[in-house]
Amino acid sequence: MFEAIVILLLVGVKNSLQSEHWSYDYETRWPGECTEGKYQSPINIMTRSAIVDKHGLHIRGPLFFRGYDRVNVTAVNNGHTLKWTIVEDFPTPLVSGGPLRGNYSFLQFHLHWLSEHAIDGMKYPMEIHMVHIKTGLTVDEALERPDGLAVLAVLCQVSSEGASEFALGEIAAFFPQLVDRNSKYPNPAVIDVFRLMSPEPQSFYTYHGSLTTPMCQEVVTWIVMDQPLIISDTQYKEISRVDVGRIDNYRSLQPVNREIYRSVPSCGTLSLPTLLCFLTSLIHLSSSLTGIISKGVCTLVNVKRKFLGSKVRECNVKN
Ligand SMILES: *[C@@H]1O[C@H](CO)[C@@H](O)[C@H](O)[C@H]1NC(C)=O
Ligand SMILES: *[C@@H]1O[C@H](CO)[C@@H](O)[C@H](O)[C@H]1NC(C)=O
Ligand SMILES: [Zn+2]
Repeated sequence: MFEAIVILLLVGVKNSLQSEHWSYDYETRWPGECTEGKYQSPINIMTRSAIVDKHGLHIRGPLFFRGYDRVNVTAVNNGHTLKWTIVEDFPTPLVSGGPLRGNYSFLQFHLHWLSEHAIDGMKYPMEIHMVHIKTGLTVDEALERPDGLAVLAVLCQVSSEGASEFALGEIAAFFPQLVDRNSKYPNPAVIDVFRLMSPEPQSFYTYHGSLTTPMCQEVVTWIVMDQPLIISDTQYKEISRVDVGRIDNYRSLQPVNREIYRSVPSCGTLSLPTLLCFLTSLIHLSSSLTGIISKGVCTLVNVKRKFLGSKVRECNVKN
């Protein structure tokens, strides 16, 4: 009897360390930081409350990507998601810059349908998570440090246009063999991970949060790219046919209670379409113009007030 209890306890500990035995049906019963943590993910990103990091204090320049165009990966359906993991001994792609201090090495990417993050309350049909570890750390070490992991999140939008086949073209060939839970794609394959990236990778929100699956460790620098990748309806349908025990595999939104930073994409450094870039700068310009004009009007009104002997108001340029 006693032995049986000990064995049960040991099995329990082992399961919670491996964190394989959990389900999206019982999120409130997820262990550890999932229920006790304060800075959990995913969150709803309210664009109006995001801090635009104009002075580059938090986001120091653009993101740099090295080696994403040729990545040797294996693919599995692990019963929770479809996951592509980099083959050991293959040159590791690195990301640095933006909010990151130092290099982060690419480990794996996987899919969530529906999206986990929301922007202004809006969810997308799918989200890609590219998981990176601070270069030089082991996974165990990374899970102990607030800056241990960096996850690039790419939101996906569905379109019926033919050109939208391109984005997932690199991984679509894997889908039919990954339909069953705990299935594996037989061979490693070299793919271009850039095709899975947002069309404007320098346009992102960033905040500190957690893994979105048990044990939900709060060790993740999230970089959520807000310009969605366009995928085809046919490909989306194939993905949603994949068996992960449910029709979807996303964690519910968590309290925000922290600062979210917004990158300031500059026209020179990225693939932002020229017209859009031009419009964006016009909007910036017009908002500062509006500020200057309203300051002018305020000053004039103050002159009048002074003249009539009433109280003078402060004039600030806001933007
Ligand atoms: C990809 O990894 C596999 C397994 O390690 C290896 O056999 C194959 O040669 C690699 N492909 C390339 C292009 O390096
Ligand atoms: C990041 O990796 C690149 C390429 O390996 C290297 O040149 C650079 O010095 C690294 N940066 C840091 C901060 O380690
Ligand atoms: Zn994920």
